Amino acid sequence: MDSIIVTGGAELRGQIPIAGAKNACLALMPATLLSEEPLTLTNAPRLSDIKTMAQLLQSFGAEVASLHDGQVLSLSSHDLTGVTADYDIVRKMRASNLVLGPLLAREGRAVVSLPGGCAIGARPMDLHISGLEALGAEIELRDGYLHAVAPRGLKGAVIEQRFASVGATENIVMAAALAKGTTVLKNAAREPEIVDLVKCLRAMGAEIGGEGTSEISVQGVDRLRGATHSVVTDRIELGTYMIAPAIAGGEVELLGGHIGLLPAFCEKLDEAGIHVSQTPAGLKVARSNGRARAINVRTEVFPGFPTDLQAQMMALMCTADGVSVLEETIFENRFMHAPELTRMGAQIEVHGGHATVTGVERLKGAPVMATDLRASVSLILAGLAAEGETVVSRVYHLDRGYERVEGKLSACGARIERIRTE
Ligand code: UD1
Repeated sequence: MDSIIVTGGAELRGQIPIAGAKNACLALMPATLLSEEPLTLTNAPRLSDIKTMAQLLQSFGAEVASLHDGQVLSLSSHDLTGVTADYDIVRKMRASNLVLGPLLAREGRAVVSLPGGCAIGARPMDLHISGLEALGAEIELRDGYLHAVAPRGLKGAVIEQRFASVGATENIVMAAALAKGTTVLKNAAREPEIVDLVKCLRAMGAEIGGEGTSEISVQGVDRLRGATHSVVTDRIELGTYMIAPAIAGGEVELLGGHIGLLPAFCEKLDEAGIHVSQTPAGLKVARSNGRARAINVRTEVFPGFPTDLQAQMMALMCTADGVSVLEETIFENRFMHAPELTRMGAQIEVHGGHATVTGVERLKGAPVMATDLRASVSLILAGLAAEGETVVSRVYHLDRGYERVEGKLSACGARIERIRTE
C-alpha cells in the first residue's frame, strides 16, 4: 500500500489545474445505459473510482474505452448482456448505485447490491427506492440485493424528496428521462453535478428543465441518442487546493475554478482572512499576513458549505487564531480525521455532530492514517503546515478522488512524495 510523505513548512506558489469532477463523471457514465448510441465524455478525471465505474458498466456488456491518457471516455451500451451490479464492486464504491435508474429505464429490470457499511455513516437508499417506486418500479430486497422490475414500464409522477439527496435525484432524473409522461421532482438536489448531468442528458435528447433549482421537471421521451459532453470542473478538488496556500502560506492560482462552484466555501475563506480573487484563468488564493482567523462552519446541501470540504476546513482551523466550531449535518460519523489531526498536535473535541477546534501555532508531523477520501487529503494539507515529516498511509482512499496529488502540490513548491509499495 502506497504512502505519502509531506515535509511541512514550504510556502506554495504557482498554478494547479483542476480536473473534471469525479462526482459528476460517476453520474454521467451510467447515462450511457440509457441509449444504444455512443456517449463520449471529455475532461474526465483519472481516478480509481472512474475505473471502478468502467468495470461495473462493462459487467453489463457496455464498452468503455479510455482515450487521451484517460481524459476522454468513450462509452457504448449498444448491446447489454446483464443487469446485476455485484456486491464486490458496489461495496468498493457507493456511487455504483447510480446504475439502478438507468438499467430500470432501459432494460425494465436491475439487480443492485446494497452498499453495506460505509466509513462515513449509514447512507441508506430509501430515497432512491421510493422515487423509483413512484415511477412504477417494484423493488424488493433479497440476499443483500435490490431486485427492481418495471413490468409495465416507468410512468412519470410527482415526487417530493424528504431530503435533497444528490444520488437519488440523479437516479430519478435518469429513469424519468425514458419514462412515459411527465415527472416533477420536488426538493431536488441543486449541486453543480446535477446541472452537469442534466446538460448531458439534454444533449442526448432528453427533455428536462429546472436543473439547479429545487424543482426538476422531466418530460419522458421514447429514446435517447448519443452525445459528447465535457465534465464540469471538480469543485471539491478546487476547494481542497484552495486550502493548500491558506494553510501553508503563499499564493496559488487554481486553473478552471470559479466562485459560483463554491459560493459558501469562498465566503468562509474570506471570513477566515484568506484572499480569494477571480482571474481570467481561475481562482487565485493567497494568505500573506499571519494565521487564518477561526470561523464557524455548518455543512449544508448546495449552495451551502459542502460536507466534502469539511475535513479540509478542519485542517485549516487547526492552526487558525481562535476557537472554531464545525457542524456536520449531512453525514453522521464524518469526523474520523479528528483523532489523526490530534496526533499532529491539533486540539479538537468532538461531541456528536460538532467539532470544536482550538487553533495552535504549529502542527507537528506524525505518522497518520487515511480513513476515507476527504479525511486523507485533510491530513496531507495539515502536513503542509506541520513541522517535520508527516507520513500518510492507506492512500488508496486518496487515489479514489484526487489525480496526481503529489505532482500538483510539488509543482507549487510543496515537499511531498509518494512511497510506492507493491
Ligand atoms: C454525493 C457525493 C458525496 C457527497 C454527498 C453529499 C457522489 C458520487 N457522491 O453522495 O461525495 O458527500 O453527495 O453532498 O456524488 N440519504 C438517505 N436516503 C437515501 C439517500 C441518502 O437518507 O436514499 C442520506 C444519506 O445517508 C446522507 C444524506 O442523505 O446522510 C446525503 O446523501 P446524498 O446526497 O444521497 O449523497 P450521495 O449521493 O451518496
